[in-house]
Amino acid sequence: MTKRYCDLETSICYSGWTGTNGITFGVALPQSKAAPFDTVLQIVSPIKNGWVGFSWGGTMPYVPLTVGWMNSASNTSIYSSRMAFGLSLPQPYAEAEYSYIKGTGYNATHWTLTVRCRGCSQWHDVDGNLVSIDANASAQKLAYGLSSRPPAEPANNRSTFNVHNSFGNYRIDLTQGQNADFDELVAANLIDGTPPASSSTPVPSSAISTISTTMSMSTVTSGLPQPTQTGIPVSCPDVAELAFPANTAKGWRATKVAGGLTQPRGLIFDNSGNLLIVQNGMGITAHKVAPNGCLTSTKTVIAQRNLNHGIVLSHDGKTLFASSATSVFSWSYDATTMSVSENATTVLTGMDSRGHVTRTLAIPPKYPNLLLVSHGSNDNFDYGSADIATGRSCIKVFDTTAIPADGYDYATSGYQMGYGLRNEVGLAFDADGMLWGVENSSDELHRTIDGISVDIHTDNPADEINYLGDPSKENTDWYGYPTCYTVFNPNSIADKSFTIGDQFVLEPNATFTDDTCKTRSLPPRLALPAHSAPLDASFNKNFTSMYITLHGSWNRNPSIGYKIIEVPFTTGANGFGPKASVNSTQAWADIFWNPDVETCSTTQCFRPVSIAQDGYGKMYVTSDSGAEGEMIIIGRE
Ligand code: HEM
Repeated sequence: MTKRYCDLETSICYSGWTGTNGITFGVALPQSKAAPFDTVLQIVSPIKNGWVGFSWGGTMPYVPLTVGWMNSASNTSIYSSRMAFGLSLPQPYAEAEYSYIKGTGYNATHWTLTVRCRGCSQWHDVDGNLVSIDANASAQKLAYGLSSRPPAEPANNRSTFNVHNSFGNYRIDLTQGQNADFDELVAANLIDGTPPASSSTPVPSSAISTISTTMSMSTVTSGLPQPTQTGIPVSCPDVAELAFPANTAKGWRATKVAGGLTQPRGLIFDNSGNLLIVQNGMGITAHKVAPNGCLTSTKTVIAQRNLNHGIVLSHDGKTLFASSATSVFSWSYDATTMSVSENATTVLTGMDSRGHVTRTLAIPPKYPNLLLVSHGSNDNFDYGSADIATGRSCIKVFDTTAIPADGYDYATSGYQMGYGLRNEVGLAFDADGMLWGVENSSDELHRTIDGISVDIHTDNPADEINYLGDPSKENTDWYGYPTCYTVFNPNSIADKSFTIGDQFVLEPNATFTDDTCKTRSLPPRLALPAHSAPLDASFNKNFTSMYITLHGSWNRNPSIGYKIIEVPFTTGANGFGPKASVNSTQAWADIFWNPDVETCSTTQCFRPVSIAQDGYGKMYVTSDSGAEGEMIIIGRE
């Protein structure tokens, strides 16, 4: 419920909303003005909250976020201007300008942040469209996020901070926050320059720590990237140690090749052996690779902040595809100059901007004209996606030789390559060109029997390795989400005896039981630990192993994942697949891991994302940890 309240000290009146967590958000604005207009935000938070975030657009990604916290070193509270480019640490956002207003500080029970914002009433969405707040909206959708943990460096408003303990939406009546003499009131109460907004510590930068050289590269015209040496360097010149120590399995070595990257996600080689990285919120960079595996130069190929994960090159290396949450674009690409054509072609549009926003792209080895685009769910439980026609929680295939003038529409064009896949982020092709995927399954699962609900979320459901099949043939199989989930830990589901890999429903009823899953849903070929979050899959050269990056959990206690595993594959009675049976607990080996995984979080530890293999099987792996965007090279010594 919104309530108008007026601040006695400043006479500014706000439209206020107080949630069950005891935080009050107040929004003040001028009377009936069209955007852009200045706004004033007041956050009054119980002292126990480490940070509190306010979303001007009612969601997390691609909207201005005002985050506040206490800075006890300077006896005050500070703002931090952010924008998120996915469901990951929001980055500093320069397009909103803030000034402090009287009433910022803290007492024994609460901290208060009062700021004027220029640039919070209007912004560009994921597609670059201008979005404006309507000053007369009677039910404006807003959102909050909050955490009990303070940021890593409370004096620095560009500090990293960890994911929220809770988040939510509410609606407020903006007319109640209108002030007739807004500009005068604000001017009378602005604080000049203080409280301090320090930026004394290094900030994430797009420049990576590599030396620039004029070294010439061996140029190849086609085929796999050409490495020049099989070994893994012990270190790379001018590249610091990994931000967090990591272990590698016996016989393996991992070395950091780049740091200071901006949320590095998708990663590929071009046909001349250069690495192309999607840096989320920034664009695509290209990096020359020295014979020893270290990087020797860096160059921005495309500056486009909505490119967030997906990247693939056509077989001839001349067309580069990359994805935003909603669209896929292509450019002609020249590997010798590591540059693209000026204008992008829109390959497809119409994907959802809510929820899971990475759109992994792949081109099958046998079908150079086919582009596979993976689209996750728009929420933890996306019930709408159970209908194949929605085009979510699925993989679809598009012919790149027949792209319509304004691009394909994702939901209504192309053909299916499996649905009921909550978020199939990692895709890989086996020796026969058949498609495999790794799936991130749901959070917060409860099993309800006879009206009694039991929390089973810590070790269930399993994340999954799925077999998706021949990419040239439509696959309308349903893989279970959001109804049939896979058991990882049978012991925590006490009402029935399950084994690992079985599928179950959250609340069996007369028409749909656990057994219904057996007839309707395709179970995984291997169950992976719940919340381990597999983000990429890559077969070794002779297809005896699949390497998988486990990005790691963000809301499991203790944390899990944060490693790279090797899953042996073989051809057995059921054809090619994981060597271990689906109910095995010994189906993989760790090859790279963080030693104290229980301390890992979104800002702590290496968070492996994507893998690019060179011709010798050396893997480059990105990490988008909130602490530092990094890339390693890993392989056998
Ligand atoms: C370290 C920083 C952050 C991380 C890693 C993070 C991560 C996430 C993740 C993983 C989800 C998905 C939850 C699910 O699927 O169940 C989410 C949702 C959400 N987050 Fe954050 N978040 C961060 C900061 C913030 C901040 C500062 C706000 C400010 C308001 C915020 C607001 C939201 C909201 C409103 C949602 C619901 C989904 C939506 O409407 O977009 N988050 N976040």
